[in-house]
Amino acid sequence: MRLLKTALVAGALAVLSVTTIAAYAQDTKIGFIVKQPEEPWFQDEWKFADQAAKEKGFTLVKIGAEDGEKLMSAIDNLGAQGAQGFVVCTPDVKLGPGIVAKAAANNLKLMTVDDRLVGADGKPLEDVPHMGISATKIGEAVGQAIVDEMKARGWKMDEVGAIRVSYDQLPTAVDRVEGAISVLKAAGFKTQNIFDAPQAKTDTEAALNAATVVLNAHADIKKWIAFGLNDEAVLGAVRASESVGIPADGMIGVGIGGAESAINEFKKPAATGFVGTVIISPKRHGYETALDMYDWIANNKEPAKLTLTSGALAKRDDYQKVRKELGIE
Ligand code: GLA
Repeated sequence: MRLLKTALVAGALAVLSVTTIAAYAQDTKIGFIVKQPEEPWFQDEWKFADQAAKEKGFTLVKIGAEDGEKLMSAIDNLGAQGAQGFVVCTPDVKLGPGIVAKAAANNLKLMTVDDRLVGADGKPLEDVPHMGISATKIGEAVGQAIVDEMKARGWKMDEVGAIRVSYDQLPTAVDRVEGAISVLKAAGFKTQNIFDAPQAKTDTEAALNAATVVLNAHADIKKWIAFGLNDEAVLGAVRASESVGIPADGMIGVGIGGAESAINEFKKPAATGFVGTVIISPKRHGYETALDMYDWIANNKEPAKLTLTSGALAKRDDYQKVRKELGIE
């Protein structure tokens, strides 16, 4: 009898704990807010964050916030919905202290991805856990790929113009283009041949507009290279070069990202001036950050304060292989 009782109690406890775990996981709600929901990179981040949600059984709330106002109301909204935390790539890193305060007011744990928050002094908010790319290193890989391609084409560097598609209000963007420039300069590229093309937004259209201004101002230059913070920036410069009649063999653009924007370009039957991209990992940025947030909420395990991810160069002929190696096929 006693044995039976023990078995019954143990059974009941087992049922109880299973339901408690299930209820807890179900109750966990995590926001994933991105600044540019239409950009393939962010779509991929969401896709991989969804994978983490499925595996752990939490609810993922995906929100696009293109400006500060939308971001602030998204955070309030998450609070009202009973979420416990969120991962964010902010439309403006200078909103840093405001985002931190808003998260705290809503009792939400906060982690950033891609773009790191800065304080009033422009310095990163080091207390907020962040996952970003190793921007300088990846920029250097872009610069090296461009130098190699100029050599392969037998270009004389002095005849070449460089379009620096820039978004200088974002530190990771500065680090990326400056990384590329340091390698170009070390290879003998002249500073006066590098032209700044400031984009108003980090998308292709804004880059196209910015690059067109540079190309028109230097119509005497026939050979061009281009780099920027992402694939969209470089694609904008490549589209601009096409529109002023520069053929594909007169342009060398190398992007950063490796998502759909770059792949569509590689899939075109004829090569364009977009010769390569440093593929970074939306899996790490989406899956891992969502998992980190879950662990923080459910298991009280705080994420690392700073994680920097790496990238790998890919071109038309090997991008599928590189993607596979990075686990993002
Ligand atoms: C920034 C860019 C994105 C992407 C990420 C990667 O947010 O705007 O296009 O490159 O960085 O971290």
